[in-house]
Amino acid sequence: MKNVVVRSVTKTWGETSAVADVSFEVEQGHLVVLLGPSGCGKSTTLRMIAGLEEPTAGAIEIGGKDVRGLTGAARGVAMVFQSYALFPHLTVADNITFGLSVRGTPKAEMARRLDKVASLLGLGALLVRKPSQLSGGQQQRVALGRALIAEALVCLLDEPLSNLDAQLRQDLRREIRALQQRLGITMIYVTHDQTEAMSMADRIILMRGGRIEQNGPPAALYERPASLFVARFVGGAPMSFLDLDDGPQGAVIAGTSAPLMLPVTGRGCVLGLRPEDVAVDIGENATRLHARVTAVEYLGADALVTCAVGDRSIMARTPGGAVPQVGASVGLTWNPTAAHVFDKTSGERVSVASGGGMPQPASDSETQKGSLYA
Ligand SMILES: Nc1ncnc2c1ncn2[C@@H]1O[C@H](COP(=O)(O)OP(=O)(O)OP(=O)(O)O)[C@@H](O)[C@H]1O
Ligand SMILES: [Mg+2]
Repeated sequence: MKNVVVRSVTKTWGETSAVADVSFEVEQGHLVVLLGPSGCGKSTTLRMIAGLEEPTAGAIEIGGKDVRGLTGAARGVAMVFQSYALFPHLTVADNITFGLSVRGTPKAEMARRLDKVASLLGLGALLVRKPSQLSGGQQQRVALGRALIAEALVCLLDEPLSNLDAQLRQDLRREIRALQQRLGITMIYVTHDQTEAMSMADRIILMRGGRIEQNGPPAALYERPASLFVARFVGGAPMSFLDLDDGPQGAVIAGTSAPLMLPVTGRGCVLGLRPEDVAVDIGENATRLHARVTAVEYLGADALVTCAVGDRSIMARTPGGAVPQVGASVGLTWNPTAAHVFDKTSGERVSVASGGGMPQPASDSETQKGSLYA
């Protein structure tokens, strides 16, 4: 069931266009992340759903109802702001129940809900403290508690972890996700951190310049990025991008003679490869794309290896126990499905029918796997 529907929503302030014709749907009980760089319109979109801004055009439905002109409470949404904005003079308990008491909720009902939320968030022992007596993570949980106690249809979070250290962020994003799944809360979560988005979301909506660049499950954005922008934004280590050109047997990496087994015209296209998809064969007999190791970044479990191919570089991720030396000659291979091809001008993904019409090296057992030979 669709819990939130955003239909062709636009928001402009004078000349500034913050959000342009954005449409998406959020299923009940799903966690949807609005992801994107600073200024792309994430907060504005969230604030329009919360009722803090009215769209210039378009419509928003929550629980099947057009919510134009309704307050946040009437829409059934609760919001957690980036700055948690706790009242410094109120205790944790009073901070959490503030909204309920403003609405005149009976005391017994308030106490029952406070008890439930405090035990969910592990705040039971802290209820009489003031915010200044809490750690950042504990304050964050109070802010979350204030949203959860409303028992709203939809919970909106705007960069809720941005003020915290790396370890706390990691702990809290697990806690928030677990809580959201356990209680079946519909959540819309804003962040510019792709790791946060990838690890928490049922769906990611990646925005750019007020528009949606791609909307899909995390794996879809990772495995089939719709554009160069998505390919750059999603994924841990950066993708390598190589200009393609037309060779005698198909698309080749510009400036090399290695034929690429891709049934596409090379000129005007860019090949994208994720480091984790590139395998490194150490040794002189490597029959793959010849390359030379120019840098190694050892990370423990694995290493990022930068390899020069002509005057271009490709990054590969190798196991920590099998790291080549700087200066070594290596051969690089990857699965055809790992080769992402984009149009250089439009930035859009070019779909590549694997194997179609391209010559295959006959005696090579690795042909099924390797998309490239030298
Ligand atoms: N009240 C306003 N008046 C005029 N322009 C605004 C207003 N609020 C936001 N904007 C502009 O709208 C655009 C989108 O802003 P928004 O706050 O939605 O971005 P964001 O994706 O949340 O960015 P960040 O990651 O930095 O928080 C920006 O160019 C911003 O300057
Ligand atoms: Mg913002």
